[in-house]
Amino acid sequence: MLNRRNFISLSFLTAFSTILKSSFSGALLKADEKPPGDTEHGFPMVISTWKHGIAANEAAWQVLVQGGQSLDAVEQGVRVTEADPDNSSVGVGGFPDRDGDVTLDACIMDPKGKAGSVTFLQHIVHPVSVARLVMEKTPHVMLSGEGALEFALQNGFRKEDLLTDKARKAWEEWKEKSHYKPVINVENHDTIGMLAIDKNGDISGACTTSGLAFKMHGRVGDSPIIGAGLFVDNEVGGAVATGLGELVMKTLGSFLVVEFMRSGYSPREACRLAVDRIADKLPEYDRNQVGYLAVNKAGETGAFAIHKGFNYALKREDVNALLDSGALL
Ligand code: GLY
Repeated sequence: MLNRRNFISLSFLTAFSTILKSSFSGALLKADEKPPGDTEHGFPMVISTWKHGIAANEAAWQVLVQGGQSLDAVEQGVRVTEADPDNSSVGVGGFPDRDGDVTLDACIMDPKGKAGSVTFLQHIVHPVSVARLVMEKTPHVMLSGEGALEFALQNGFRKEDLLTDKARKAWEEWKEKSHYKPVINVENHDTIGMLAIDKNGDISGACTTSGLAFKMHGRVGDSPIIGAGLFVDNEVGGAVATGLGELVMKTLGSFLVVEFMRSGYSPREACRLAVDRIADKLPEYDRNQVGYLAVNKAGETGAFAIHKGFNYALKREDVNALLDSGALL
């Protein structure tokens, strides 16, 4: 039976183990190597996930260097990846679901905490721009499926076929194997998540993807979920996620990263703690990849993933570099 004395000992033990755990994490993090690459801070600056972020950053930088706003920068930046037919995990050229349909998820957040999102959107090359219009022209945060498509068409977007020959071939090959096994991106291609700080120090973010290759029809991942695939708090910083969305959604990862930064952790430490949370809570973590990328209000960046192999592109005035994230395993 749980008497008062046992209860007090239990509470003490729980509190002690929490302190131990957090100081152990802290010690681990402090003992960890310096962030490989970016030890700078300041702005304007832009970061984005994976190698495709290099080209996307250049487009975002064109906005920032002309004194433009971070919101325009992130939209213009990720549009580059959305329009790239050679990229099999974002926009046109994205691998389809198991029924052969390319379905897209995207979201965007501005420095005022406004947010817009689209999920399960088909036939539109630039879901991020539709998400921005949801934010700016509707009282809602998220539109989905047919409703999102209707809204896009009403606002001048054109209906297009997003399934490229390469993506169709990959789908047909997958069908021949006739078993359902979504491709989890441990290798260097996945969602693009981007965070930018403009010359005024204001932070915005965007995230856009075609989701898991050969996913179940109707599946939506973390990328359009505010707080999961992306979160920005202009007083603190921003974070984006890449990898298996189910793990990110179950831990509300990007929000968690921003909250760790609010508590005083560096972007890299905050990303690591969010990866630790996945490892603590979700037994399937070691078979899957998730990577977090974050920036704080000072323009310091950091990233951490479950597995090695996640990298991110960083653009400042005289550099556009691809940097490796830290990894748990
Ligand atoms: N992170 C992309 C997805 O799971 O859909």
